[in-house]
Amino acid sequence: MYEKYYGFNDKPFNLTPDSKFFYASAKHEEALNCLLLAISERNGFVVITGEIGSGKTTVCRTLINKLDPTTKVALVLNTHLGKKELLTTILEDLGIEYRSTSKTHLLSALNKYLIKQASNDVNVVLIIDEAQNLTPSVIEEIRMLSNLETEKEKLIQIILMGQPELKKKLVMPKLEQFRQRVVFHYHLDPLTAAETRNYIKHRLKKAGNEEADIFKDDAIDEIYKYSKGVPRLINLMCHNALISGLVHEAHKINKDIVLEAIRESVLGYSHIPSEVEGQLPTPNSQLKTEEPQWDELLKH
Ligand SMILES: Nc1ncnc2c1ncn2[C@@H]1O[C@H](COP(=O)(O)OP(=O)(O)OP(=O)(O)O)[C@@H](O)[C@H]1O
Ligand SMILES: [Mg+2]
Repeated sequence: MYEKYYGFNDKPFNLTPDSKFFYASAKHEEALNCLLLAISERNGFVVITGEIGSGKTTVCRTLINKLDPTTKVALVLNTHLGKKELLTTILEDLGIEYRSTSKTHLLSALNKYLIKQASNDVNVVLIIDEAQNLTPSVIEEIRMLSNLETEKEKLIQIILMGQPELKKKLVMPKLEQFRQRVVFHYHLDPLTAAETRNYIKHRLKKAGNEEADIFKDDAIDEIYKYSKGVPRLINLMCHNALISGLVHEAHKINKDIVLEAIRESVLGYSHIPSEVEGQLPTPNSQLKTEEPQWDELLKH
């Protein structure tokens, strides 16, 4: 849409977890390094939690790209699953054939496969994204998978990634046994103001704007205030601001353009961060006609 106007050769603020755009903030890098270490040490469970839109899936994609070919990955993305469905999903993702869906048969097929991979020095990793949706009994089942081991090492390394609800689930007394097996739990916090600035510049460069100077400092400050450093919200705001910039034929994005973009994007949402609310320009009459609930929304 605005790519040509701003000279991008790619979409700079897509909402997909594209590892090409990975920005190695201290937090994201630490999470990634922990995962790489846990996998290479073959020592069991890792849990990564983080706010909605903080970059968990992006870290996961970047991790998969970094793993060498002697590591096989089963990636589970749909987590509204029962115990057996989870097992069949894992088997199918690893390309393991099974003749019956009895739990004993599924586990035995997985075990045989894992022993064979271990004898060929292949490391197998199970990554479960969106793990906040798993029920406690499915989490228990995942713990049982970590019992597949030799005397020396785990046959399968297991990574759970999820929103903060996962953290809450894991403190349940009935998941004590699971908790005891977690060798590492990392919580991904949002970016700081300085990281937000670097993040935006990094994405601009990756999309082809070498100078990374489209957003003025005051514009980035507003984006940080609105997003509180959550990457998905930063992307959303930058994208909307670039659309507004195009409409105004502005080659540089300043604070006013960002405020306009924020105002337009919060139409339809009931919550506006308090730091931003006071600064929103008064909606003009045209906007009022299009969105009659605007004044109402601002009251909530
Ligand atoms: N470190 C990063 N580098 C580059 N882009 C990132 C980074 N972290 C997050 N993003 C971007 O932010 C957006 C949200 O990231 P992602 O989908 O990974 O978040 P999430 O934590 O998995 O969200 P959810 O809780 O909804 O699953 C994506 O557009 C992604 O590209
Ligand atoms: Mg995700």
